[in-house]
Amino acid sequence: MKAFVVEKYGKDGARVAEVAEPTVGGRDVLVKVSATSINPLDKMVRNGEFKQLLKYKTPFVLGHDVAGVVTQVGSAVRGFSVGDEVYARPRDLRIGGFAEFIAIDQDDVAPKPASLTLQEAAAVPLVALAAWQVLVDRAHVKPGQKVLIHAGAGGLGSTVIQLAKHLGATVATTARADSEKLVRSLGADVVVDYTKEDFSKVLSGYDLVLDSVGGANLEKSLTVLKPGGLAISVVGPPDAGFAKQLGAPSFMGAVMNILSRKVRKQAKSLGVRYEFFFMQANGSQLRKLGALYDSGKLRPVIDRTFPFGQTLEAMAYVEQGRTKAGKVVVAMVPDNG
Ligand SMILES: NC(=O)c1ccc[n+]([C@@H]2O[C@H](COP(=O)([O-])OP(=O)(O)OC[C@H]3O[C@@H](n4cnc5c(N)ncnc54)[C@H](OP(=O)(O)O)[C@@H]3O)[C@@H](O)[C@H]2O)c1
Repeated sequence: MKAFVVEKYGKDGARVAEVAEPTVGGRDVLVKVSATSINPLDKMVRNGEFKQLLKYKTPFVLGHDVAGVVTQVGSAVRGFSVGDEVYARPRDLRIGGFAEFIAIDQDDVAPKPASLTLQEAAAVPLVALAAWQVLVDRAHVKPGQKVLIHAGAGGLGSTVIQLAKHLGATVATTARADSEKLVRSLGADVVVDYTKEDFSKVLSGYDLVLDSVGGANLEKSLTVLKPGGLAISVVGPPDAGFAKQLGAPSFMGAVMNILSRKVRKQAKSLGVRYEFFFMQANGSQLRKLGALYDSGKLRPVIDRTFPFGQTLEAMAYVEQGRTKAGKVVVAMVPDNG
């Protein structure tokens, strides 16, 4: 089959190649991929930025989001049949969505939301799971709480805004002026143009900040929280919880605690909290999210769709920050949806 393969770690290490079809384990569904989407994580994994923690052995197929049709099920699979339209964020170390076929553990898969085309559904899993896990599992966002979501026009931010609004939060976001209309339509109540204004000078009393920018942006984010408020960063620095989540040896936890010591100390001195977050595959959460897409509470935001033969260009487009808003989809087959 055709796949987009990382042959060696690094910027020029990946290309479309012919590889063997995946073997299907007892708990796996084999999915004929209709579409995938690009996440910044793809670039990081290709570059080897995670190789101490996520030990992918080259050559391996890249790609963290999938929508497609089930063509085979393992002997222990329950609830999926050949012909089902599904979507998934395959678990770490079993990624490989940029391919004609992928075998995915049944626990990571959910039926595609009926209201979305396969290409639209491919834009959803990773960012929607991250949104759910940050807002619901970690921060327990309640109606009336004030939530600041950075980079609201991005693939992640555009999804988190919608879910935070659905949960009843008052939502502020940072975005360029030309994205203001979009982020307001997604549910943002307050929009700060990060190219013109310093959000930390105009926002205060927040229960939660989601940082996807890092560095000084994270440090400033701590100052807009109310006492006891929580800053969650999806870009780091990592903390010991991340090493534990990945099952890394305990010394890695100590290393990560050192990496995040400065920001945790800053948070403590301000009477607020800091946590790093890294999303996980979860098919049952994708089912709940699917219902929110089908009821119109959430919608995918798609910047552009590339054909599979242009996966390199699609990745470069995202890496160069050329997206105006939302996700970049890669279509394996034309969408009839
Ligand atoms: N840990 C996790 O589980 C997890 C999950 C999802 C994403 N992430 C990470 O989160 C980051 C964003 O992901 P994404 O999928 O949303 O990427 P994306 O689609 O490429 O979006 C990035 C967005 O950031 C905006 N931006 C850049 N600088 C900014 C600033 N200083 N203030 C506010 N916005 C700014 C860009 O807006 P302009 O184009 O207008 O500049 C763009 O809309 C990536 O680093 C990704 O790896 C982590």
